[in-house]
Amino acid sequence: MEERLSTSAALVHVDGVTVRFGGVVAVNAASLSVPPGEIRGLIGPNGAGKTTLFDTITGMRLPTSGRVIYDGTDITDRSAVWRSRNGMRRTFQRQQPFGWLSVEDNVLAALDYRGGGGGIVADVLALPSRRRRERERRAKAQAAVARCGLTSLSGEAAGRLSIGKVRLLELARAIVDDPKVLLLDEPTSGLEEAEAEKFGEIVSEVRHETGCAVLLVEHDVPFVMGLCDRITVLNLGEVIAEGTPAEVSSNDLVRAAYLG
Ligand SMILES: Nc1ncnc2c1ncn2[C@@H]1O[C@H](COP(=O)(O)OP(=O)(O)OP(=O)(O)O)[C@@H](O)[C@H]1O
Ligand SMILES: [Mg+2]
Repeated sequence: MEERLSTSAALVHVDGVTVRFGGVVAVNAASLSVPPGEIRGLIGPNGAGKTTLFDTITGMRLPTSGRVIYDGTDITDRSAVWRSRNGMRRTFQRQQPFGWLSVEDNVLAALDYRGGGGGIVADVLALPSRRRRERERRAKAQAAVARCGLTSLSGEAAGRLSIGKVRLLELARAIVDDPKVLLLDEPTSGLEEAEAEKFGEIVSEVRHETGCAVLLVEHDVPFVMGLCDRITVLNLGEVIAEGTPAEVSSNDLVRAAYLG
């Protein structure tokens, strides 16, 4: 039996996480709790530790100290693959689609392949159950592509897309398998205003339909304020404020450190 930790209703609970790179303290005793169904913004100046915190939550970097609790379980030592298989999905500050694959195949590749019995023989013979499962995977991928407004580009090589379309493709890859937690690192950087608006609408819809938690790192402050339920502010690795968009924008500390 897993030890279940009582961290109230949080789905993701970051508990006193510190991350050091040699002498640099990138994240300093940061704590935050995000319940399911909430869109949480994470804002702060360049170098505040936002991406490093994402790396720790998603298992790409071990914290120097502190814990990450996911749905009541301490997952600090679990691999990034385990976290992804258990519903954590992430997009990156730097985009990284498979440029030579089509849009649809990029999304398909993000779906975990669950083969089932029969092994390679069943694959080679393409038994009806295999073909059906493959059709279901395709349909799921196509639905995510459609939701992100990319159907007319589904056969296009991802490497030929504009920045805005690649951002939408990354979102399609992240939402194709009903995430429990969606972590988005500067998803609207490089997007035109209409594209950013569309992006926000999709995130909001997905949250309402699936009840997933969303963590959003973003420098576009009006976008963050419009989309997020609550906002956590990081500065020099420390959480300096947390609250509703209205509370955070009227916070003197936040204005001095970030909003100007
Ligand atoms: N791999 C690394 N090795 C050494 N220092 C690092 C490494 N990654 C990040 N840092 C340092 O940690 C601090 C936090 O960086 P991080 O990338 O997490 O900030 P950020 O809030 O995401 O910034 P930005 O808004 O520019 O993306 C910075 O001082 C950065 O230089
Ligand atoms: Mg960053």
